[in-house]
Amino acid sequence: KRKVIIDCDAGIDDAQAILIALSQEVEVLAITCVAGNVKLDNVCANVLKVLELCGRTDIPVYKGSTCSLLGDVTSASHFHGLDGLGDAEGIPDPDTTLLKSEHAVNALIRLINDHPSEITLVAIGPLTNVALACRLDPCICSKLKELVIMGGNIEAKGNVSVSAEFNFHSDVEAAYVVLNEFASPITLVTWEVCLNHAFSWDFCDVYCSQGTSKSHFVKKISDKSTRFYKKMYAGMGKGKTICDCLAMVVALQPESVSKETSVYATVERHGHLTRGQMVVDWRGTLGKKPNVKMVQEVDMESFKALMMKSVQ
Ligand code: BDR
Ligand code: CA
Repeated sequence: KRKVIIDCDAGIDDAQAILIALSQEVEVLAITCVAGNVKLDNVCANVLKVLELCGRTDIPVYKGSTCSLLGDVTSASHFHGLDGLGDAEGIPDPDTTLLKSEHAVNALIRLINDHPSEITLVAIGPLTNVALACRLDPCICSKLKELVIMGGNIEAKGNVSVSAEFNFHSDVEAAYVVLNEFASPITLVTWEVCLNHAFSWDFCDVYCSQGTSKSHFVKKISDKSTRFYKKMYAGMGKGKTICDCLAMVVALQPESVSKETSVYATVERHGHLTRGQMVVDWRGTLGKKPNVKMVQEVDMESFKALMMKSVQ
């Protein structure tokens, strides 16, 4: 069985991505939490809510960083709700005494060292925990089987600032450390690729109405963001983008990736308008070795199949 650690800032799409992982034949060794979409305490509570829904509170959950490396606290509550799960009613408060006392960064270091070259780390929030683990114990940088990241953007299309994607923008320095210091293979699922793999609203309706407790949960938590999406992208015929789920599918079912390319990618740290924007050296101008595999196309039918299975 593939060994997986999920580092997340749950978040609606993070919660949905966890549902995918729990529905697959993989061993989820841990879920490590990082502040991002909402404050860390909300993130931890949201992860526990998903685990309780699935009867999987045996999976250890660790509290990680409360802010970026430089101390910034971000929020995407306009989209994810004040609680991070769409402010949905009727979801029971989880038992937060289940949270482990070990810090998420220490747990990452311990687990990666215990299972060298075996773990797929799926990072679907700001990269603060991962960068700190890399600083505390640089050995872990070469000990992952794979690091799959949802973050960054190829065409400078921003979803948080004019030119930056949320996860990279939330902790620019952490993204820089991870991209430039990790020696394990990195696979990137960028914002534009997520935009290109949006679901039709018809699919979303079917996915949310399977008559199971999981599809009911997903419907409740996504109502608010669906309204936001329909208003924001009205007339663009785009449907719904569910970023972290795409990253999870790429991590757990790599054969569903039909097009990818290896390139050197880094992140702009200094620009006034471009801080947090990913920069891709398409022509090899910097003379650096490729450091990421950039996903370009994923088989939509496989993506849909995994989404459906996760709520059945
Ligand atoms: C990313 O930002 C967050 O709001 C989502 O959970 C996803 O990880 C998309 O830019
Ligand atoms: Ca996320």
